[in-house]
Amino acid sequence: MQFAPYDNFAKFYDLEYSHKENDLDFYLDMAESCGEPVLEVGVGTGRVAFELAAAGYRVCGIDNSPKMLAVAEQNLAGLDKEVRRRVSLTHGDMRDFSLGQKFPLCIMPFRTFLHNLTMDDQLATLRSIKKHLSPDGVLAFDLFTPLYNVMAQNSWRDRIDPDELADPESGVSIDIHIEHEPKEQLLKICNTYMLEGQPPESVAMKYRYIFRYEMEALLRCAGFSIRAVYGGFEKQAYDFHSGMMIFVASREE
Ligand SMILES: C[S@@+](CC[C@H](N)C(=O)[O-])C[C@H]1O[C@@H](n2cnc3c(N)ncnc32)[C@H](O)[C@@H]1O
Repeated sequence: MQFAPYDNFAKFYDLEYSHKENDLDFYLDMAESCGEPVLEVGVGTGRVAFELAAAGYRVCGIDNSPKMLAVAEQNLAGLDKEVRRRVSLTHGDMRDFSLGQKFPLCIMPFRTFLHNLTMDDQLATLRSIKKHLSPDGVLAFDLFTPLYNVMAQNSWRDRIDPDELADPESGVSIDIHIEHEPKEQLLKICNTYMLEGQPPESVAMKYRYIFRYEMEALLRCAGFSIRAVYGGFEKQAYDFHSGMMIFVASREE
C-alpha cells in the first residue's frame, strides 16, 4: 500500500488526541437524528467511530493511512464483541473511494477535510461522499476558522506539555512549528516529539484552510445544500471568532 502522510503520525496520534471528547456528543446526536450505518471519512484510530459503535450505531470508517488503520484495528480488538461487530474499517482515499453502499449520514470529524490541498481534491472528496449518501443523506463535519490574528503570521511555534497528553506519564512533550503560505492558504505543520534519552522524532503534515463562504461554495458546487453552519459543537450560531465552524449539508436532488 502507498505511503500516506499520517503513517508517520500513527504511533503518536492517540497520545496526542485520544482524550479529545468535545465533538463526541455532536456526532452522536447526528447519528441519532440521521440513523445508521454511519460513514466516517478519515476514521483515523477510531476515536469517534468507536464511540458511535459503543452507542449502538453501525459504522464504516475509511482512511488512506494503513498505519492509522492498524492502530484502529488494535484499539478495536480491545473492545466488546458487540461493539466490534458494528464496525468495519476500509483502506481508501476520500477523493476517490467506492464502498458499494449508501449511508444516511457521513461524518468527517476533526478537520479531516482540510487535508485536501487543492480545489480539485476538495471537490473530488465531496463528490465521492455524495455518491455514498442515500437520497436524503446528510454530511456533517468540522473545520477551524482561519483567525486573522493567527494567520497574520508567516510562522509560529507552539508546545504541548506531557500533562496535556492522554498519558501524562509518557513524559513526551511536543514542539509544534507552523509555516504559513497565505498565497496557497496552506499551513505546514511539523510536530517534534521529545522524550528524554531518545532522539526527537519529527512528523509533518499540511492543511489547506478554508473560509466559511468558500466552504459553502464548494458544497454547492458539489451538489449539496447547506442545512446549518454552527460555531461550536453545542450548535451555537456561527461566529468566526469561536475558531470553529461546523457544516451540516444534505444531498441536493
Ligand atoms: C485529524 S485526523 C482525524 C481522525 C479521526 N477522524 C478523529 O477525529 O480522531 C485526519 C485523518 O484523515 C486521514 N486522511 C488524510 N487524508 C486522507 C485521504 N486523502 N483519504 C482518506 N483519509 C485521509 C488521516 O490519515 C487521518 O487519519
